Amino acid sequence: MIEVSIESFFSENIKSALKSNPPGEWMTKVPAGCIRLNSGYPSPTHVPVMPLKTAVAKLFEEEQDLPLHYLGSPRITKLKEQIQKRLAERGIHVSEEELLITSGACQAIDLIARILIDDKTIVAIETPTYMEALEIFQNYTKSFISIPVDKYGFDTNRLEEVLAERKSKGLTLPRLLYTIPTFQNPTGTTLTAERRQHLLELAAKYNFLILEDDAYGELSFNKCPIPLKALDREDRVLHVGSLSKVVAPGLRIGWAAGASELITALAWFKKDLGHPFSHATTATFLEITDFEKRLKTLRDAYQEKCTVLISSLEQYLSELVSWYVPEGGYFVWVKIPGVDTAQLLTQALVEGVAFVPGKYFFLNQKDGTEFIRLSFSYADEKEIVEGIKKLGKAVKSILV
Ligand SMILES: Cc1ncc(COP(=O)(O)O)c(C=O)c1O
Repeated sequence: MIEVSIESFFSENIKSALKSNPPGEWMTKVPAGCIRLNSGYPSPTHVPVMPLKTAVAKLFEEEQDLPLHYLGSPRITKLKEQIQKRLAERGIHVSEEELLITSGACQAIDLIARILIDDKTIVAIETPTYMEALEIFQNYTKSFISIPVDKYGFDTNRLEEVLAERKSKGLTLPRLLYTIPTFQNPTGTTLTAERRQHLLELAAKYNFLILEDDAYGELSFNKCPIPLKALDREDRVLHVGSLSKVVAPGLRIGWAAGASELITALAWFKKDLGHPFSHATTATFLEITDFEKRLKTLRDAYQEKCTVLISSLEQYLSELVSWYVPEGGYFVWVKIPGVDTAQLLTQALVEGVAFVPGKYFFLNQKDGTEFIRLSFSYADEKEIVEGIKKLGKAVKSILV
């Protein structure tokens, strides 16, 4: 039998993309019983199982088979209206043509990458950043500009320096900047109001688009910062959002909101027809839910868990590590000087706690070896305390 080299049939950009690390390497296999401080999942107690059950029953009662067809459920249009309304409450006013419902924020990012990035495109990213977005962008280009994140979000002055230098040397400028300005994954930091304004000025001056990933934007402990899209006067911001962190990730409801030309192009390439049953179920859930009340409950619960995590770090690790205190979201970013956190993970899993090693959030993984991302969203308070105690043991055993 002649062996066929399947790979030789791949397109050039796929061959190039396959040279990156395989996707999902960051997803640790967590042994049963291990405390999950690695998971960016919502708290199991706050996934609205009973309201969703009620919503499904109401949906079938009122629409019978309609939500199970390709199209037909009136609630598919309703969902879009409900999301438009939620966005408007945050200062983002978009028409029907300026909004596309996607299968989670991830599909929106992937579609945007497909539309805007080719192998010659330079993408500006904050560093560290959401590993899945890094994986997506690397499927399309190998050219990046990395701008460091500090406790005020990413450093827009540094971005300005890099852009000015590239311009003066006649080098290609980025066409797209990807940012998670609010309660960033992984650092938990929030871009200040001054930096938000500065970023928009730079986008106008150096002519690039901004992809604003707002997956955690509504999960503030105090006040929600104004989204970049609400400050955007030139249609340079593509706003991506999701119900994964505030309702349930399994529904796969996300969106992209931006200029109608862009949304039309995204819709052109989105061939999965959406998920009518999930869209109709979600619309019914939103109909029967007081969403502001739900958000208040979530914000209070996550703030409480975050406080427990931080006070446990103070109790068990304060002399050995440092961290940023987040004002919302799911994550605390911790620096452990002198420790290779990929090695630490092996020891931590033996102790019975899991985290995500920092290296996965960096393009150049060597830059992230002393960091870890801890999530307070999934584990309960007791587990968080226990988990940090175990982490303390693991760190100390490595440092002796
Ligand atoms: C910053 C960020 N963007 C997007 C996503 C993906 O969200 P979705 O489940 O809507 O695809 C996540 C999930 O972890 C995230 O952290």
